[in-house]
Amino acid sequence: MDSIKLNIAEAIAKVLEKETDEVLAAIETPKDSKMGDFAYPCFKLASVFKKAPVMIANDIKEKLGDVEGVSKVEVVAGYLNFFADNTVVVETTVKNILNKKDACYNLEEGVGKTICIDYSSPNIAKPFHIGHLRSTVIGSALVKIYKALGYNVVGINHLGDFGTQFGYVIEGYKRFGQNIDLTEEPIKKLVEIYVKINEMAKEDEAIVEKARENFARLEAGDEEIVALWSKFRELSLEEYKRIYDILGITFDSYNGEAFYNDKMGEVVDILRNSGKLVPSEGAQVVELETEKVPCMILKTNGSTTYATRDLAAILYRARTYDYTKCLYLTGYEQNLHFNKYLKLLNI
Ligand code: ARG
Repeated sequence: MDSIKLNIAEAIAKVLEKETDEVLAAIETPKDSKMGDFAYPCFKLASVFKKAPVMIANDIKEKLGDVEGVSKVEVVAGYLNFFADNTVVVETTVKNILNKKDACYNLEEGVGKTICIDYSSPNIAKPFHIGHLRSTVIGSALVKIYKALGYNVVGINHLGDFGTQFGYVIEGYKRFGQNIDLTEEPIKKLVEIYVKINEMAKEDEAIVEKARENFARLEAGDEEIVALWSKFRELSLEEYKRIYDILGITFDSYNGEAFYNDKMGEVVDILRNSGKLVPSEGAQVVELETEKVPCMILKTNGSTTYATRDLAAILYRARTYDYTKCLYLTGYEQNLHFNKYLKLLNI
């Protein structure tokens, strides 16, 4: 950008027969980028040329000719606004970085430090949506940047592979899914099973009961249920990996929510012993000063929640990786959860 600014100053100086440095010092950066990247105010010239600033700006514009690195020049009131050519900006920035590698960033910054990056993290048996893609792409760029800075990076795919919905998918699969070929487009078919069994559950309370029971059995490690769950997880993961292959991404860990199934007791104990866990309408929650709705840790039926699993995960990561920083890349829909979760970590 500095070289473009200099080109502009030289071009204006030539038209006005002034010193480049003087013009350079007068060039401003517009507050609103819609007004361009650089602005040259013509107000002071009004008394010299005995003309309105806007007319002077127009005169200069006419005589300016092409300025290298500038894609558009506009006159707004008494200003000459210049728009940098983004192709030139990107090209020069990248070239500068490549040429002066060491001067641009400290390649030793991360030596001896570990950083955990929790990204992508789709939900098993559910489609990989645009929010996941965004998290995947940004997360993988961060992985590369931190590696270049010398950090030991742990890329974690915190798969959404746990939760009551699996009770339903399993029930649907047992009732009408056996003949469905899951080897092709498994996610699409698992979603269809989930939608159908939910429709049926609206008419039949017994299905709701069964789904709950399936999930309780999954939590308890029941062999038959765990086998079905593993199959769904594996098939979904294979489909996600097709996307990761296209993007050239691999993860250091696929420890998703289910991995923490047996690690949440400790979190509940810690919260209970510190007096933070309080009963609320049959559930166990942590009150957060700034939030109207508390953070639920145990549901009324004693089941854990998404937040409990994130707490178990951070404890595990701290112990296993001894990280300096743990980053989360998620879609906007996770806003509410992360707001509460991060506040909880700070109390
Ligand atoms: N599975 C979540 C989703 O689909 C994202 C998980 C983000 N990571 C986490 N540790 N909670 O949006």
